[in-house]
Amino acid sequence: MYIDGKVVVVTGGGHGIGRALCRRFAVEGAHGVVVADIDADAARRVASETGGLAVAADVANEADMHRLVGLANNAFGQIDLFCSNAGIAVDGGPEVPDFDWDRIWHVNVMGHVYATRAVLPQMLARGEGYLLQTVSAAGLLSQIGSAPYSVTKHAALGFAEWLSITYYDAGIRVSALCPQGVKTDMLLDSGAGAGHFLTEGALEPEQVADSVLQGLAQERFLILPHPEVATYFQRKASDYDRWLRGMRRLQQRLMESNMLPSLKAKVVSTTMQQPVWNFEQEPWDRPHDETDVNLRAYFDRMRDEKMLQYRPEWTDEQVVEWDGNFKLDDEAAPAELMLGCSEREVFLEEYRQVLDQAIAYRSRVRTDTQPA
Ligand SMILES: NC(=O)c1ccc[n+]([C@@H]2O[C@H](COP(=O)([O-])OP(=O)(O)OC[C@H]3O[C@@H](n4cnc5c(N)ncnc54)[C@H](O)[C@@H]3O)[C@@H](O)[C@H]2O)c1
Repeated sequence: MYIDGKVVVVTGGGHGIGRALCRRFAVEGAHGVVVADIDADAARRVASETGGLAVAADVANEADMHRLVGLANNAFGQIDLFCSNAGIAVDGGPEVPDFDWDRIWHVNVMGHVYATRAVLPQMLARGEGYLLQTVSAAGLLSQIGSAPYSVTKHAALGFAEWLSITYYDAGIRVSALCPQGVKTDMLLDSGAGAGHFLTEGALEPEQVADSVLQGLAQERFLILPHPEVATYFQRKASDYDRWLRGMRRLQQRLMESNMLPSLKAKVVSTTMQQPVWNFEQEPWDRPHDETDVNLRAYFDRMRDEKMLQYRPEWTDEQVVEWDGNFKLDDEAAPAELMLGCSEREVFLEEYRQVLDQAIAYRSRVRTDTQPA
């Protein structure tokens, strides 16, 4: 597909890759560029710059996707290319709270599903249309340090493949854009997060837009702004175990060179934790002093009500009850001793989050069980 004269919608168009795409589509002579973003101000800025239409929309909300398609149709008559590009990153592994798994699932996977539901019928009716889905090299390979990102990007790629198989003969073209690091807020704001090591070798969003233009012109399924990703993907397919060994070595190197400090703490603490709390086996009768008696009473109650899955490395000695809420005693928490590394802050933060969840869970259960 060539962009000249076409109507294009871009989600996540307010920043980063989406913004570079909108700008490039305008330069290429698109008839209309619809800039959709959850950040309404950013969408407006890009739309005014490109002479397009700004729509505030959350891709994780199906009604928003239908409204977006309706507004684009009203403004420009039809949609030729829908770029489902918005995405988010969440670091961590199985310990990531359900709330964050749900959030990333709804943005990175259901965002594509809702967009397709909204726009595909008009494309099928015309017998032509193009869906570009921004996935990631993590969808072909993996994202060290982030299970939620790896999983949702694999799912997004699976959805794009399925669409291409199913609707190609009906005139629908599908491309999956799978870059490695790109210099956008997602990468540059990741601090010590999982994607940070990709900053080296990262492309500018404008370079990604160049690749997209070429990929669309050739109607290629995989658009790989970093061509080496094709080689990595081949290696993975030809010897999976060897590829996994290489990824483990890379992870080790990154941790040793302190490029993944947060992961270092997580891997250690996750190794220490038991998979599921066994209420029968916990040594609740071990000696404890006055300071943890309230916390202990709380955990006892949780245990009795079987509401809490509490990990053994979170010792109650590290926490004091304060003002009806639980508060960490930073001085008393020998986190670096327990972890065998110096990521005390990360550990404490994780610990705080878990306590917050436990408290939120407790109040929810209480509210739910209040008599009407
Ligand atoms: N930056 C990278 O290194 C990189 C690498 C591979 C893939 N990607 C993917 O590229 C896509 C774009 O990311 P980016 O790097 O430009 O990041 P970015 O954070 O710069 O831009 C993402 C845009 O999406 C918007 N957005 C976030 N959640 C939204 C929602 N629920 N609904 C609508 N808009 C929403 C944000 O407001 C922002 O404008 C994402 O899918 C990301 O996973 C990025």
